[in-house]
Amino acid sequence: MAPAFPPPPVNTIDWSNVGFKVREVNGHIESHYSIHTGKWSPLKFVTDPYIRLHGMAPALNYGQQAYEGLKAFRLPGNDRIAIFRPDRNALRLQHSAEFISVPPVPVDLFLSAVKAAVALNAEYVPPHETGAAMYIRPQVYGSSAQLGLSPPEEYMFCVYVLPTGVYHGTHPVKALIMDEFDRAAPNGTGSAKVGGNYAPVLRWSDKARGEGYGITLHLDSKRHEEVDEFSTSGFIGVLKEGDGKITLVVPDSKAVIDSVTSLSVQEIGRDFGWGVEKRAIKYDELPKFTEVLAAGTAAALVPIRSITKRNSNRLEGQARVSSNDGAETVTYIPEGNEEPGEICTKLLDQLKGIQLGKVEDKFGWRFEV
Ligand code: COI
Repeated sequence: MAPAFPPPPVNTIDWSNVGFKVREVNGHIESHYSIHTGKWSPLKFVTDPYIRLHGMAPALNYGQQAYEGLKAFRLPGNDRIAIFRPDRNALRLQHSAEFISVPPVPVDLFLSAVKAAVALNAEYVPPHETGAAMYIRPQVYGSSAQLGLSPPEEYMFCVYVLPTGVYHGTHPVKALIMDEFDRAAPNGTGSAKVGGNYAPVLRWSDKARGEGYGITLHLDSKRHEEVDEFSTSGFIGVLKEGDGKITLVVPDSKAVIDSVTSLSVQEIGRDFGWGVEKRAIKYDELPKFTEVLAAGTAAALVPIRSITKRNSNRLEGQARVSSNDGAETVTYIPEGNEEPGEICTKLLDQLKGIQLGKVEDKFGWRFEV
């Protein structure tokens, strides 16, 4: 008789303290593409976490790489596992792949790979009661040796999984606006989930963390007048008017990644009868928000405790000039900023309720493994 699926969670992990770090599991999924066949190969389960990649692969030399992040959860009773909205991530990976000249991974292949990676590591999906998840990290890259700046002949698609808690924690964090560094050029790769949008941020986010800022925020690269996104997640501003009307405001910018978490809480907000506006968000508007949230797969929803800007920026002709005159402006501080706000709590409860199977999935977001 086949053993029951899913197996119970392993007892080698302290599930009350999963954290956000790499943990080794049973293995990952791989598929390979060659321009000679024009096809992705059948999925293969590989137990070695190290991949075989030529040192001259454009993935390593020219940043020809894109990735995704999504999550799987154990449902009540711990006897079923569901992945949250993998179809959206499949499409987003195709969007990113186009930017870096990697052949698209077909949606069906993506879904099968993600399901297989979760199923073959099912004992690492955290217990339902912890609220923690299995984080799924699909990746694509140019993998064969290539010196000239043109697409190589071979590509890899891998899906890694690992158990995680939430990134940034659940308490309000202070945000620092990145004034000296721009995440993406105005007509560049901002909407693609490519490593090149993340690596250059490391030194700034690390410095900011050392100064007590848990998260960094990017304004538009051209003028620094509008909000783009946090370095790790999407931006949501909450407006609560005197009559109690609630509106979620999200940036309409072609330099931001289409956050699946943000899209989901926008749907949830609409379902609650709230308004949703996708539009340019002026920096000057920040003080009007009653709450600001960072939305992402790894982060879920992070309440923002304050937003600080240090440098002044002005346009001289077409050039933006940034100067640090020592002034520091705390541009957004909500009332009661020590604790998650009412809207954050409502959205997060509903989102987690759907992900964990505690709330009816009327949107069809759970894909059972
Ligand atoms: C995610 O939220 O899944 C991401 O990819 C962000 C990353 C910085 C952890």
